[in-house]
Amino acid sequence: MGQGFYGIRAEAVASCVVLSHPGCADGGVHKPVGITGDHKPVANGGDLGESGAPMNPDFVREALRQVRYPGFSRDIVSFGLVKNITCEPGLTVVQIEVQTADPAVPERIFQDCHAVLDPLPDIGHARVEIEVKGAPAAAGGQVRATIPGVKRIIAVASGKGGVGKSTVAANLAVALAASGAKVGLCDCDLYGPSVAQMFGTVERPLANEQDEIIPIEAHGVKLMSMGFLLDGSSPVIVRGPMATRYTQQFLRQVAWGELDYLILDLPPGTGDIQLTIVQTVAVDGAVIVTTPQEVALIDARKAVSMFGKVNVPILGLIENMSWFECDAGKRYHLFGNGGGAREAELLGVPLFGQIPIDVPTREGGDAGKPVALLSAEANKVAAAFHRTAAAVRSKTGV
Ligand SMILES: Nc1ncnc2c1ncn2[C@@H]1O[C@H](COP(=O)(O)OP(=O)(O)OP(=O)(O)O)[C@@H](O)[C@H]1O
Ligand SMILES: [Mg+2]
Repeated sequence: MGQGFYGIRAEAVASCVVLSHPGCADGGVHKPVGITGDHKPVANGGDLGESGAPMNPDFVREALRQVRYPGFSRDIVSFGLVKNITCEPGLTVVQIEVQTADPAVPERIFQDCHAVLDPLPDIGHARVEIEVKGAPAAAGGQVRATIPGVKRIIAVASGKGGVGKSTVAANLAVALAASGAKVGLCDCDLYGPSVAQMFGTVERPLANEQDEIIPIEAHGVKLMSMGFLLDGSSPVIVRGPMATRYTQQFLRQVAWGELDYLILDLPPGTGDIQLTIVQTVAVDGAVIVTTPQEVALIDARKAVSMFGKVNVPILGLIENMSWFECDAGKRYHLFGNGGGAREAELLGVPLFGQIPIDVPTREGGDAGKPVALLSAEANKVAAAFHRTAAAVRSKTGV
Protein backbone atom coordinates (compact mmCIF):
# COMPACT_ATOMS: atom_id res chain seq x y z
CA MET A 1 0.00 0.00 0.00
CA GLY A 2 1.36 3.40 -0.94
CA GLN A 3 2.23 5.60 2.04
CA GLY A 4 -0.15 8.49 1.53
CA PHE A 5 0.08 11.64 3.54
CA TYR A 6 -2.52 11.88 6.25
CA GLY A 7 -4.96 14.68 6.64
CA ILE A 8 -6.77 16.08 9.63
CA ARG A 9 -10.48 16.53 9.17
CA ALA A 10 -12.27 18.59 11.81
CA GLU A 11 -15.56 17.06 12.83
CA ALA A 12 -18.63 18.99 13.90
CA VAL A 13 -18.05 18.00 17.53
CA ALA A 14 -16.07 20.63 19.42
CA SER A 15 -12.50 19.69 20.35
CA CYS A 16 -12.76 16.53 18.32
CA VAL A 17 -10.61 15.81 15.29
CA VAL A 18 -10.64 12.78 13.02
CA LEU A 19 -7.50 11.71 11.23
CA SER A 20 -8.00 10.03 7.90
CA HIS A 21 -5.63 8.70 5.26
CA PRO A 22 -6.66 10.19 1.94
CA GLY A 23 -3.53 9.04 0.16
CA CYS A 24 -4.68 5.42 0.31
CA ALA A 25 -8.07 5.94 -1.24
CA ASP A 26 -7.22 3.84 -4.28
CA GLY A 27 -6.35 0.78 -2.26
CA GLY A 28 -2.68 0.74 -3.25
CA VAL A 29 -0.36 -2.26 -3.70
CA HIS A 30 0.33 -4.73 -0.90
CA LYS A 31 3.72 -6.10 0.00
CA PRO A 32 3.73 -9.92 0.06
CA VAL A 33 3.67 -11.04 3.68
CA GLY A 34 3.24 -14.18 5.69
CA ILE A 35 1.89 -14.75 9.15
CA THR A 36 3.99 -16.37 11.84
CA GLY A 37 2.57 -18.66 14.51
CA ASP A 38 2.30 -15.82 16.97
CA HIS A 39 0.25 -13.80 14.53
CA LYS A 40 2.94 -11.25 13.80
CA PRO A 41 3.07 -10.24 10.17
CA VAL A 42 6.47 -10.87 8.58
CA ALA A 43 7.54 -9.40 5.29
CA ASN A 44 7.83 -11.82 2.41
CA GLY A 45 7.43 -14.75 4.74
CA GLY A 46 4.73 -17.07 3.41
CA ASP A 47 2.08 -18.11 0.96
CA LEU A 48 -0.82 -16.03 2.19
CA GLY A 49 -1.71 -13.70 -0.60
CA GLU A 50 -4.70 -11.58 -1.34
CA SER A 51 -7.85 -13.62 -1.77
CA GLY A 52 -10.33 -10.79 -1.95
CA ALA A 53 -11.99 -12.09 1.24
CA PRO A 54 -12.33 -9.53 4.05
CA MET A 55 -9.99 -9.52 7.02
CA ASN A 56 -11.11 -10.83 10.36
CA PRO A 57 -11.52 -7.96 12.91
CA ASP A 58 -10.00 -10.12 15.66
CA PHE A 59 -6.92 -10.64 13.54
CA VAL A 60 -6.63 -6.91 12.90
CA ARG A 61 -7.04 -6.26 16.64
CA GLU A 62 -4.24 -8.73 17.41
CA ALA A 63 -1.97 -7.07 14.86
CA LEU A 64 -2.65 -3.67 16.43
CA ARG A 65 -1.24 -4.92 19.74
CA GLN A 66 2.13 -4.07 18.21
CA VAL A 67 1.28 -0.39 18.32
CA ARG A 68 2.23 1.27 21.58
CA TYR A 69 0.89 4.48 23.00
CA PRO A 70 3.75 6.92 22.27
CA GLY A 71 6.18 7.05 25.17
CA PHE A 72 4.47 4.24 27.10
CA SER A 73 5.00 0.50 27.23
CA ARG A 74 1.27 -0.21 26.92
CA ASP A 75 -0.23 -1.05 23.53
CA ILE A 76 -3.25 0.77 22.17
CA VAL A 77 -5.49 -2.33 22.18
CA SER A 78 -4.99 -3.31 25.80
CA PHE A 79 -5.37 0.32 26.79
CA GLY A 80 -8.83 0.29 25.19
CA LEU A 81 -8.19 2.96 22.57
CA VAL A 82 -9.35 0.79 19.65
CA LYS A 83 -13.10 1.36 19.66
CA ASN A 84 -14.21 -0.46 16.53
CA ILE A 85 -12.90 -2.50 13.61
CA THR A 86 -14.95 -3.26 10.52
CA CYS A 87 -13.79 -5.42 7.66
CA GLU A 88 -15.37 -5.58 4.22
CA PRO A 89 -13.86 -6.96 1.04
CA GLY A 90 -11.27 -4.38 0.03
CA LEU A 91 -11.78 -2.11 3.06
CA THR A 92 -10.75 -2.31 6.71
CA VAL A 93 -11.72 0.56 9.00
CA VAL A 94 -10.14 0.97 12.43
CA GLN A 95 -11.64 3.54 14.77
CA ILE A 96 -9.46 4.79 17.60
CA GLU A 97 -10.24 7.27 20.33
CA VAL A 98 -7.46 9.05 22.14
CA GLN A 99 -7.44 11.74 24.82
CA THR A 100 -4.53 14.08 24.44
CA ALA A 101 -3.67 17.72 23.98
CA ASP A 102 -0.51 16.81 22.05
CA PRO A 103 -1.05 16.53 18.28
CA ALA A 104 2.08 14.38 17.97
CA VAL A 105 0.34 11.52 19.78
CA PRO A 106 -2.44 10.79 17.23
CA GLU A 107 0.05 11.36 14.40
CA ARG A 108 2.40 8.73 15.81
CA ILE A 109 -0.43 6.26 16.46
CA PHE A 110 -1.79 6.86 12.98
CA GLN A 111 1.57 6.16 11.34
CA ASP A 112 2.32 3.14 13.51
CA CYS A 113 -1.11 1.64 12.77
CA HIS A 114 -0.52 1.97 9.06
CA ALA A 115 2.95 0.49 9.40
CA VAL A 116 1.33 -2.59 10.95
CA LEU A 117 -1.84 -2.79 8.86
CA ASP A 118 -0.73 -1.84 5.38
CA PRO A 119 1.48 -4.90 4.81
CA LEU A 120 -1.23 -7.37 5.93
CA PRO A 121 -2.66 -9.58 3.19
CA ASP A 122 -6.37 -9.13 2.45
CA ILE A 123 -6.45 -5.84 4.33
CA GLY A 124 -7.63 -4.02 1.23
CA HIS A 125 -7.61 -0.30 1.88
CA ALA A 126 -6.80 0.29 5.54
CA ARG A 127 -8.49 3.36 6.95
CA VAL A 128 -7.41 4.50 10.40
CA GLU A 129 -9.75 7.03 11.96
CA ILE A 130 -8.56 8.66 15.13
CA GLU A 131 -10.92 10.72 17.20
CA VAL A 132 -8.93 13.09 19.37
CA LYS A 133 -10.51 14.36 22.54
CA GLY A 134 -8.96 17.04 24.69
CA ALA A 135 -6.94 15.57 27.56
CA PRO A 136 -8.37 16.62 30.90
CA ALA A 137 -5.08 15.94 32.61
CA ALA A 138 -2.47 17.41 30.37
CA ALA A 139 -0.86 20.19 32.32
CA GLY A 140 -0.75 23.15 29.99
CA GLY A 141 -3.53 21.64 27.88
CA GLN A 142 -6.80 23.41 27.31
CA VAL A 143 -8.89 21.38 29.75
CA ARG A 144 -7.51 20.77 33.25
CA ALA A 145 -9.37 18.43 35.54
CA THR A 146 -8.24 19.58 38.93
CA ILE A 147 -9.34 17.99 42.18
CA PRO A 148 -11.47 20.54 44.03
CA GLY A 149 -9.61 21.88 47.07
CA VAL A 150 -6.24 20.42 46.04
CA LYS A 151 -3.62 23.06 45.19
CA ARG A 152 -0.83 20.86 43.78
CA ILE A 153 -0.81 17.29 42.49
CA ILE A 154 2.70 15.87 42.39
CA ALA A 155 3.61 12.45 41.00
CA VAL A 156 6.57 10.61 42.49
CA ALA A 157 7.89 8.31 39.78
CA SER A 158 11.03 6.49 38.79
CA GLY A 159 10.72 4.21 35.80
CA LYS A 160 12.76 1.56 37.61
CA GLY A 161 11.27 -0.53 40.40
CA GLY A 162 12.64 -0.70 43.92
CA VAL A 163 14.65 2.53 43.88
CA GLY A 164 12.65 3.98 46.77
CA LYS A 165 9.66 5.82 45.27
CA SER A 166 7.32 4.77 48.07
CA THR A 167 9.90 5.51 50.75
CA VAL A 168 10.51 8.93 49.26
CA ALA A 169 6.79 9.62 48.68
CA ALA A 170 5.92 8.66 52.28
CA ASN A 171 8.74 10.67 53.82
CA LEU A 172 8.22 13.64 51.53
CA ALA A 173 4.53 13.66 52.51
CA VAL A 174 5.41 13.52 56.22
CA ALA A 175 8.11 16.20 55.87
CA LEU A 176 5.76 18.49 53.93
CA ALA A 177 3.14 18.01 56.64
CA ALA A 178 5.74 18.78 59.32
CA SER A 179 6.49 22.04 57.50
CA GLY A 180 2.86 23.07 57.98
CA ALA A 181 1.38 22.02 54.62
CA LYS A 182 -1.88 20.06 54.31
CA VAL A 183 -0.90 16.83 52.58
CA GLY A 184 -2.51 13.77 51.04
CA LEU A 185 -0.77 10.67 49.70
CA CYS A 186 -2.41 8.48 47.10
CA ASP A 187 -0.84 5.07 46.56
CA CYS A 188 -1.35 4.48 42.83
CA ASP A 189 0.49 1.16 42.93
CA LEU A 190 -2.52 -1.17 42.88
CA TYR A 191 -0.47 -4.33 42.53
CA GLY A 192 2.19 -3.56 45.15
CA PRO A 193 0.67 -1.03 47.54
CA SER A 194 3.12 0.15 50.23
CA VAL A 195 1.41 3.08 51.92
CA ALA A 196 -0.61 1.08 54.49
CA GLN A 197 2.57 -0.65 55.67
CA MET A 198 4.67 2.50 55.63
CA PHE A 199 2.10 4.41 57.71
CA GLY A 200 1.30 1.49 60.01
CA THR A 201 -2.44 1.40 59.48
CA VAL A 202 -4.85 -1.12 57.99
CA GLU A 203 -7.97 0.83 58.85
CA ARG A 204 -10.84 0.36 56.39
CA PRO A 205 -12.00 3.56 54.74
CA LEU A 206 -15.67 4.58 55.00
CA ALA A 207 -17.80 6.40 52.46
CA ASN A 208 -19.44 9.79 53.07
CA GLU A 209 -22.98 10.82 52.04
CA GLN A 210 -21.76 11.77 48.57
CA ASP A 211 -20.45 8.21 48.18
CA GLU A 212 -16.86 9.43 48.28
CA ILE A 213 -14.21 7.42 50.08
CA ILE A 214 -13.02 9.13 53.26
CA PRO A 215 -9.22 8.88 53.30
CA ILE A 216 -7.46 7.32 56.27
CA GLU A 217 -5.36 9.76 58.28
CA ALA A 218 -2.01 8.87 59.83
CA HIS A 219 0.96 10.99 60.94
CA GLY A 220 -0.92 14.10 59.79
CA VAL A 221 -1.28 12.87 56.18
CA LYS A 222 -4.51 11.82 54.41
CA LEU A 223 -3.99 8.44 52.77
CA MET A 224 -5.61 6.24 50.16
CA SER A 225 -4.22 2.88 49.11
CA MET A 226 -5.36 -0.45 47.72
CA GLY A 227 -3.74 -1.82 50.88
CA PHE A 228 -6.70 -0.46 52.89
CA LEU A 229 -9.18 -2.39 50.77
CA LEU A 230 -7.45 -5.77 50.87
CA ASP A 231 -7.16 -8.48 53.45
CA GLY A 232 -3.54 -8.91 54.56
CA SER A 233 -1.80 -10.96 51.93
CA SER A 234 -4.51 -11.09 49.24
CA PRO A 235 -3.02 -10.36 45.86
CA VAL A 236 -4.69 -7.74 43.71
CA ILE A 237 -6.27 -9.36 40.68
CA VAL A 238 -7.56 -6.56 38.53
CA ARG A 239 -7.36 -6.45 34.78
CA GLY A 240 -6.54 -3.38 32.69
CA PRO A 241 -9.97 -1.68 32.58
CA MET A 242 -10.59 -2.31 36.29
CA ALA A 243 -7.14 -0.96 37.18
CA THR A 244 -8.05 2.15 35.22
CA ARG A 245 -11.32 2.47 37.11
CA TYR A 246 -9.70 2.02 40.54
CA THR A 247 -7.03 4.58 39.72
CA GLN A 248 -9.66 7.08 38.57
CA GLN A 249 -11.71 6.40 41.69
CA PHE A 250 -8.71 6.95 43.98
CA LEU A 251 -8.16 10.33 42.40
CA ARG A 252 -11.66 11.59 41.79
CA GLN A 253 -13.90 9.81 44.29
CA VAL A 254 -11.91 10.32 47.47
CA ALA A 255 -12.93 13.15 49.79
CA TRP A 256 -9.44 14.66 49.81
CA GLY A 257 -10.75 17.97 51.16
CA GLU A 258 -8.47 21.02 51.30
CA LEU A 259 -4.89 20.04 50.50
CA ASP A 260 -1.75 21.97 49.63
CA TYR A 261 -0.20 18.83 48.16
CA LEU A 262 -1.54 15.55 46.92
CA ILE A 263 1.44 13.27 46.43
CA LEU A 264 0.95 10.33 44.04
CA ASP A 265 3.13 7.29 44.68
CA LEU A 266 3.37 5.70 41.23
CA PRO A 267 4.10 2.08 40.36
CA PRO A 268 7.32 1.41 38.44
CA GLY A 269 7.36 1.67 34.68
CA THR A 270 5.65 3.75 32.04
CA GLY A 271 2.45 1.78 31.66
CA ASP A 272 -1.28 2.23 31.67
CA ILE A 273 -1.65 3.40 35.29
CA GLN A 274 0.68 6.32 34.62
CA LEU A 275 -1.27 7.13 31.48
CA THR A 276 -4.60 6.85 33.30
CA ILE A 277 -3.38 9.24 35.99
CA VAL A 278 -2.30 11.97 33.60
CA GLN A 279 -5.54 11.58 31.68
CA THR A 280 -7.69 11.74 34.81
CA VAL A 281 -6.28 14.73 36.66
CA ALA A 282 -4.05 17.67 35.89
CA VAL A 283 -0.73 16.63 37.41
CA ASP A 284 1.23 19.78 38.23
CA GLY A 285 4.59 18.12 38.12
CA ALA A 286 6.62 14.98 38.60
CA VAL A 287 9.43 14.29 41.02
CA ILE A 288 11.73 11.59 39.70
CA VAL A 289 13.41 9.23 42.13
CA THR A 290 16.57 7.50 41.02
CA THR A 291 19.63 5.87 42.48
CA PRO A 292 23.00 7.13 41.20
CA GLN A 293 23.43 3.95 39.16
CA GLU A 294 23.29 4.02 35.36
CA VAL A 295 20.60 1.30 35.09
CA ALA A 296 18.30 3.39 37.30
CA LEU A 297 19.14 6.57 35.40
CA ILE A 298 18.23 4.92 32.09
CA ASP A 299 14.75 4.10 33.40
CA ALA A 300 14.45 7.53 35.01
CA ARG A 301 15.05 9.03 31.54
CA LYS A 302 12.18 6.92 30.19
CA ALA A 303 9.91 8.28 32.91
CA VAL A 304 11.07 11.83 32.13
CA SER A 305 10.33 11.29 28.45
CA MET A 306 6.89 9.81 29.28
CA PHE A 307 5.95 12.89 31.32
CA GLY A 308 7.27 15.11 28.55
CA LYS A 309 4.90 13.43 26.08
CA VAL A 310 1.91 14.31 28.24
CA ASN A 311 3.10 17.83 29.11
CA VAL A 312 3.74 17.17 32.79
CA PRO A 313 6.78 19.22 33.89
CA ILE A 314 9.59 17.55 35.81
CA LEU A 315 9.95 19.51 39.04
CA GLY A 316 13.20 17.89 40.08
CA LEU A 317 15.13 14.75 40.91
CA ILE A 318 15.66 13.00 44.22
CA GLU A 319 18.66 10.72 44.42
CA ASN A 320 18.02 7.86 46.82
CA MET A 321 20.51 5.35 48.19
CA SER A 322 23.24 7.89 47.46
CA TRP A 323 25.74 6.42 49.90
CA PHE A 324 26.05 4.41 53.07
CA GLU A 325 27.84 6.02 55.99
CA CYS A 326 29.49 3.69 58.47
CA ASP A 327 29.77 4.39 62.19
CA ALA A 328 33.21 5.92 61.65
CA GLY A 329 31.64 8.48 59.32
CA LYS A 330 33.16 7.13 56.09
CA ARG A 331 30.81 7.23 53.07
CA TYR A 332 30.55 4.29 50.70
CA HIS A 333 29.00 5.10 47.32
CA LEU A 334 27.52 1.66 46.71
CA PHE A 335 25.61 2.63 43.57
CA GLY A 336 28.13 5.11 42.20
CA ASN A 337 28.73 8.76 42.91
CA GLY A 338 27.13 11.86 41.42
CA GLY A 339 24.68 10.21 38.96
CA GLY A 340 21.70 12.18 40.24
CA ALA A 341 23.50 15.54 40.07
CA ARG A 342 24.75 14.86 36.52
CA GLU A 343 21.30 13.79 35.36
CA ALA A 344 19.61 16.80 36.96
CA GLU A 345 22.06 19.08 35.16
CA LEU A 346 21.43 17.32 31.84
CA LEU A 347 17.68 17.72 32.31
CA GLY A 348 17.99 21.29 33.54
CA VAL A 349 16.03 20.53 36.71
CA PRO A 350 17.03 20.84 40.39
CA LEU A 351 18.39 17.94 42.40
CA PHE A 352 16.01 18.26 45.34
CA GLY A 353 17.97 16.01 47.64
CA GLN A 354 20.29 13.08 48.21
CA ILE A 355 19.02 10.40 50.57
CA PRO A 356 21.62 7.97 51.94
CA ILE A 357 21.03 4.28 52.60
CA ASP A 358 20.09 4.13 56.21
CA VAL A 359 18.92 1.35 58.51
CA PRO A 360 16.45 3.50 60.55
CA THR A 361 14.89 4.59 57.23
CA ARG A 362 14.25 1.00 56.23
CA GLU A 363 13.08 0.09 59.73
CA GLY A 364 10.80 3.12 59.88
CA GLY A 365 9.21 2.09 56.57
CA ASP A 366 8.56 -1.43 57.79
CA ALA A 367 7.28 -0.27 61.18
CA GLY A 368 4.84 2.31 59.82
CA LYS A 369 6.83 5.25 61.17
CA PRO A 370 8.51 7.17 58.33
CA VAL A 371 11.92 8.45 59.40
CA ALA A 372 10.90 12.02 58.48
CA LEU A 373 8.75 12.01 61.63
CA LEU A 374 12.06 12.59 63.43
CA SER A 375 13.57 16.03 63.63
CA ALA A 376 16.46 17.11 61.43
CA GLU A 377 18.67 17.14 64.53
CA ALA A 378 17.75 13.60 65.54
CA ASN A 379 18.47 11.85 62.23
CA LYS A 380 20.51 12.78 59.15
CA VAL A 381 18.09 11.14 56.70
CA ALA A 382 15.17 12.92 58.34
CA ALA A 383 17.18 16.12 57.84
CA ALA A 384 17.64 15.26 54.14
CA PHE A 385 13.87 14.73 53.75
CA HIS A 386 13.06 18.01 55.52
CA ARG A 387 15.48 19.86 53.20
CA THR A 388 13.91 18.07 50.21
CA ALA A 389 10.41 19.10 51.32
CA ALA A 390 11.59 22.73 51.66
CA ALA A 391 13.04 22.57 48.12
CA VAL A 392 9.78 21.15 46.73
CA ARG A 393 7.81 23.89 48.48
CA SER A 394 9.97 26.67 47.15
CA LYS A 395 9.81 25.22 43.61
CA THR A 396 6.03 24.75 43.66
CA GLY A 397 5.24 27.94 45.55
CA VAL A 398 2.73 26.57 48.04
N1 LIG B 1 17.27 5.44 51.72
C1 LIG B 1 16.97 4.18 52.06
N2 LIG B 1 17.65 3.56 53.04
C2 LIG B 1 17.34 2.27 53.38
N3 LIG B 1 16.41 1.53 52.80
C3 LIG B 1 15.71 2.10 51.81
C4 LIG B 1 15.93 3.45 51.39
N4 LIG B 1 15.07 3.73 50.38
C5 LIG B 1 14.34 2.63 50.19
N5 LIG B 1 14.71 1.64 51.04
C6 LIG B 1 14.17 0.29 51.13
O1 LIG B 1 14.27 -0.28 49.81
C7 LIG B 1 13.12 -1.05 49.53
C8 LIG B 1 12.44 -0.51 48.26
O2 LIG B 1 11.96 0.77 48.53
P1 LIG B 1 10.53 1.25 48.04
O3 LIG B 1 9.48 0.26 48.29
O4 LIG B 1 10.36 2.63 48.59
O5 LIG B 1 10.84 1.34 46.47
P2 LIG B 1 9.83 1.55 45.26
O6 LIG B 1 10.61 2.28 44.21
O7 LIG B 1 8.59 2.20 45.75
O8 LIG B 1 9.54 0.08 44.82
P3 LIG B 1 8.40 -0.41 43.78
O9 LIG B 1 8.96 -0.09 42.44
O10 LIG B 1 8.28 -1.86 44.07
O11 LIG B 1 7.16 0.38 44.10
C9 LIG B 1 12.24 -0.99 50.75
O12 LIG B 1 12.49 -2.13 51.53
C10 LIG B 1 12.70 0.26 51.49
O13 LIG B 1 12.52 0.16 52.88
MG1 LIG C 1 6.56 1.58 45.56
